[in-house]
Amino acid sequence: MSPRPAVILETGRLILRPFLPEDLGPLFALYDDPEVRRYFPGGTLTYEQTQEELDWFLQGGDPDHPRLGLWATIHKESGRFIGRCGLIPWAIEGRDEVEIAYLLDRAHWRQGLGAEIAQALVHHGFEALRLPRLIALIDPANRASIATAEKAGLRLERHIEHEGSACALYAIRAPSPGS
Ligand SMILES: CC(C)(COP(=O)(O)OP(=O)(O)OC[C@H]1O[C@@H](n2cnc3c(N)ncnc32)[C@H](O)[C@@H]1OP(=O)(O)O)[C@@H](O)C(=O)NCCC(=O)NCCS
Repeated sequence: MSPRPAVILETGRLILRPFLPEDLGPLFALYDDPEVRRYFPGGTLTYEQTQEELDWFLQGGDPDHPRLGLWATIHKESGRFIGRCGLIPWAIEGRDEVEIAYLLDRAHWRQGLGAEIAQALVHHGFEALRLPRLIALIDPANRASIATAEKAGLRLERHIEHEGSACALYAIRAPSPGS
């Protein structure tokens, strides 16, 4: 077992921490589930694709954005790995953006955990990272993701074509100082 890594952020029921090599099995279980991957253009991932993605996380992810990334999502009560959530940098139509990303194991859906982590990511993005704005890129048919983004305060801004797919772009601006 690897030593326990630092916590990125913590909510009432969840912890986000950097990935460990032993997360491969549970990460693959998530990426292999067609329901979980239903609204991702590439669909499910193979074991090899999951290993490749995990290797990228383990090497520190995007070197230009060391404070952003996707992190292992741990259910505090059980200690189990139940998702991968985080903040992803994009350049969209000439503008640097940061997306809040959330993906949870199906057994844990509809318990308020998605909204809990989305709200915590927004708070982390604005308070700790001082980002001016956050977005979510969502398949317009993904009702769960839209409701989750809305519960974190994001609102529909426009529809775009993103990496070959039609996406709804939801956004929220950082609160102005003093508000
Ligand atoms: C999106 C996701 C993280 C939501 O997680 P969750 O823990 O079930 O969400 P919550 O229980 O906090 O619910 C948040 C809101 O979404 C709504 N919701 C959840 N699942 C829903 C569904 N299948 N259809 C419609 N609304 C749904 C909830 O009712 C709640 O809104 P409300 O309080 O106004 O009723 C989860 O569905 C998931 O992991 N999906 C697969 C990965 C994915 O598509 N990620 C987003 C990519 S853009």
